[in-house]
Amino acid sequence: MGLFKNKNRHAPFAGDTHQRTLHKNLDFTATEQYKLLRANLHFTIPEGTKCPVIGVTSSMRGEGKSTTAVNLSYVLAEQGSKVLLIDGDLRIPSVAKKMDIPGSPGLTDVLMDRDVPTEAFKSEILDNWYVMPSGDIPPNPSELLGSHRMALALERLREVFDYIVIDLPPVNIVSDALAIAAYITGMVVVIREDYTEKKELEHCFRQLKLSDVNVLGCVMNEAKAGGGAYGKYKYRNYRYYKYYRYEYKTHDEDADGDKKDGKGAEDKKK
Ligand SMILES: Nc1ncnc2c1ncn2[C@@H]1O[C@H](COP(=O)(O)OP(=O)(O)O)[C@@H](O)[C@H]1O
Ligand SMILES: [Mg+2]
Repeated sequence: MGLFKNKNRHAPFAGDTHQRTLHKNLDFTATEQYKLLRANLHFTIPEGTKCPVIGVTSSMRGEGKSTTAVNLSYVLAEQGSKVLLIDGDLRIPSVAKKMDIPGSPGLTDVLMDRDVPTEAFKSEILDNWYVMPSGDIPPNPSELLGSHRMALALERLREVFDYIVIDLPPVNIVSDALAIAAYITGMVVVIREDYTEKKELEHCFRQLKLSDVNVLGCVMNEAKAGGGAYGKYKYRNYRYYKYYRYEYKTHDEDADGDKKDGKGAEDKKK
């Protein structure tokens, strides 16, 4: 069994060759890893949370945030929960493209109080999976994500959904992901093996800590060249503070400017 394997239901992706979105052709291992991520989140989300709001971020671009957000929201919906995926990357939105749907109406319309019924975001893939694209790109993404309007919108949506997953921009590049911190239950941090720089990751976790973000866990997105269609996805339930202390220590050790790829950090935690 795999994500979107029912051809009739994922007709929007038919013939899509240039956009090889992960959720279109996930192999068995990757699908199982997303289910593991879903299971682990149930342990890290504080008990009794009504409609958890899960942000997905990383240190840099291209680490697999949007891919993770799409597939995580899908596996949550697949379980029967009513799930909303929001494209909160108001600078370089990509969910609409990955899903092959129009980019608006979307989040910015909801934030501007334009009359868009929630049903407008229902996906064609699962009845209980809703996808809200970014809407038109605004001039002030950080302010919008951290705004009172955003808080109110999430409050309203939490009445309707069981889970909300928000695809966010990278922490080290813009402050948007941190601006929304107060309104979310926690963050999933995506790390791409052989890509994410250790120092970038340290900076990312420092920023998350400073903003008091509850890190629900890290996703290791391992894309191995030539190693199957889409590599592997691993989820590890790291304790945020443990992770932070480790990173803090290695930051000092790295004062000589030695640039590493972050792999050592992962090895040490195994
Ligand atoms: N594990 C993976 N293996 C191969 N390609 C991947 C993997 N994860 C993401 N990608 C591809 O890498 C690119 C960036 O992924 P994306 O999820 O858009 O990253 P981000 O949102 O962090 O910028 C996309 O083209 C995506 O399809
Ligand atoms: Mg993205």
